[in-house]
Amino acid sequence: MKIDGKTKIVGIFGYPLAHSLSPHLHNAAFDELALDFVYLPFWVQSKNLEVAVRAIRSLNMVGVNVTIPHKERIMAYLDEVAPDARMMGAVNTVLNRKGKLIGYNTDGQGFIDSLEGEGELNPNGKRVMLLGAGGAARAISSVLIQEGIASLTIVNRTQRRGEELVHHLKRIFKNRCPIDFLEFGKRNLEARLREINLFVNATSVGLNPEGDLLINLDLFSPGTFIHDIVYNRKTELLEAAEQRGLPCLGGLGMLIRQAALSFEIWTHRKAPIQKMRDTAEKELGMKKRRT
Ligand code: ATR
Repeated sequence: MKIDGKTKIVGIFGYPLAHSLSPHLHNAAFDELALDFVYLPFWVQSKNLEVAVRAIRSLNMVGVNVTIPHKERIMAYLDEVAPDARMMGAVNTVLNRKGKLIGYNTDGQGFIDSLEGEGELNPNGKRVMLLGAGGAARAISSVLIQEGIASLTIVNRTQRRGEELVHHLKRIFKNRCPIDFLEFGKRNLEARLREINLFVNATSVGLNPEGDLLINLDLFSPGTFIHDIVYNRKTELLEAAEQRGLPCLGGLGMLIRQAALSFEIWTHRKAPIQKMRDTAEKELGMKKRRT
């Protein structure tokens, strides 16, 4: 990488960032296409978010990614928020268009692109159970409803948060599909699980090796698709799904595809997805496999 006076700057605002793969993915992609861009980590604490956002303009940066804990709060400091991101209530990508800061969300579309690409699953018409009600679950639930799923059941450990998400989705999507909240303690009800076609774990359980299995996979019908958005390791959930012969997918594809979509917003060039995938796998020390 050669940095000179014309090098364009993008980066990521978050706290902490030590484990972020994004700098690796984007810098490898810039290198691959010989673009004079650099992607830097900016450890921005919540109290400094507003001034950091203003710096995008004052430092003439092309844009940034936004991650935990800023995805929701950053919207207040932007000039414009794309309708999708507004609907999800979260921004993960900012573009500086001639001093105007525009917020996008590529997480949701990244999820769909991976589900259809790596997972070869079209969510249209599927009955979906989604575990989680955080930022990731918000993005994923919105895009799934837009893709025409038949029904959505949200399960979350903290009931209030899960019900809030259901309320938000019903307000935005009206009667697009039936949406309900199922108490965490009732998630393993056989009658509910039998009818599910797609189960998505959008919680952070599974990030660490002591991660729980969360759901009794024996209660699903054969062919139920299991998607765990955790990307840094093969989770207990995915191991168990594989053992039972259920089709399954990890979160690496989603991570790469959301990065690719951000890359395209900043550079107007098609992202070198394979290069980004190879880089991520190398960084994670993974052998090449479908995750
Ligand atoms: P993100 O933006 O990545 O979604 P988040 O907003 O912190 O992160 O949300 C994390 C999700 O994982 C939440 O749904 C959280 O449930 P709570 O709302 O009850 O906190 C869920 N989660 C985290 N640890 C969990 C655990 N041990 N068991 C069940 N759910 C868990």
